Amino acid sequence: MSSAASPLVEARDLVKHFPLRGSGGLAVRSVDGVTLEIGRAEVLGLVGESGCGKSTLARLIINQIRPDRGEVIMDGRDLLAMKPGELRRFRRTVQLIFQDPVAALDPRMRLIDSLMAPLAAHDAGTREECLEMIHAMLGEVGIDAGIVERYPGQCSGGQLQRIVIARALLLRPQFVVCDEPTSSLDASIRAQILNLLNDLRRRFDLSLLMISHDLRALRHICDRVAVMYLGRIVEMAPVEQIFHAPRHPYTKALNAASLLDEIGLDAAGRLVQGEPPSPVRPPPGCHFHPRCPLADEKCRHHVPALEKIAENHEVSCHHWRRSDS
Ligand SMILES: Nc1ncnc2c1ncn2[C@@H]1O[C@H](COP(=O)(O)OP(=O)(O)O)[C@@H](O)[C@H]1O
Ligand SMILES: [Mg+2]
Repeated sequence: MSSAASPLVEARDLVKHFPLRGSGGLAVRSVDGVTLEIGRAEVLGLVGESGCGKSTLARLIINQIRPDRGEVIMDGRDLLAMKPGELRRFRRTVQLIFQDPVAALDPRMRLIDSLMAPLAAHDAGTREECLEMIHAMLGEVGIDAGIVERYPGQCSGGQLQRIVIARALLLRPQFVVCDEPTSSLDASIRAQILNLLNDLRRRFDLSLLMISHDLRALRHICDRVAVMYLGRIVEMAPVEQIFHAPRHPYTKALNAASLLDEIGLDAAGRLVQGEPPSPVRPPPGCHFHPRCPLADEKCRHHVPALEKIAENHEVSCHHWRRSDS
């Protein structure tokens, strides 16, 4: 059995390539050997430009898609070896919150029915008991009970995202993946939703995987941050280190872009500087070398290992000791 000290989630060497039809064997190398852990009640941020594989990694971790290689250990159990009954219980302990609350809710259903559905599916109690749970949870997410009689089209994006969060938490998950949970919201609402998630993670001792293409969205909620580039983790460290002592030139570039108040990032969350990376034909050696100010021969030919450079700090760069990038 797992001990309290062991991580809740362990991903080991996960690989997922999507074959490109009619390409003669080419594939999108969406996730290319990712190993990471998420502790109990820990919030791990996952940041990287659009298309780098964040959502695919999340879907592998919650068993929505199967990896080509690697394993996921959840609470000490091998996810890929779970039997149907065990998987069903697992599904209850893991929830996913997407970017777009409008897409997450059925437009033809009253919100109350959307909230009721997962409780009914998991036999969570009588209708009265479920209603009570829902009302308590609405209080937690700051939504007036009256609102749930409405249809999604009658609510704001911020209200809908609170409903989606309430629905995700109703089954009392241990682990929640938030995939760009504020990207579709107005800037003024974003901070409110992030603050709410921050409150709820403490209130419910949640482990979170917080995905964003914008480092700033991760700053106040994460304990650690993993930086992803073309299917690989290039740096992983406590959040303060990522902001104040980043070692990978890519992390530094993301930092600079976020300081520029998104001037450096286009609407899709790509760094404007340098060529957008291709996950079909990633550059040899260090994937980042064509855009890196420190790149030399070694970087063009040799993949840097993800190296532990301090307690809790890993980086994949031949030149991490240099500070001139
Ligand atoms: N089901 C799929 N079939 C083919 N390619 C996919 C599929 N899902 C994702 N991809 C590709 O994998 C890459 C990573 O996508 P994704 O994980 O969505 O990145 P992110 O969430 O970081 O934007 C992209 O090039 C995307 O087009
Ligand atoms: Mg995504």
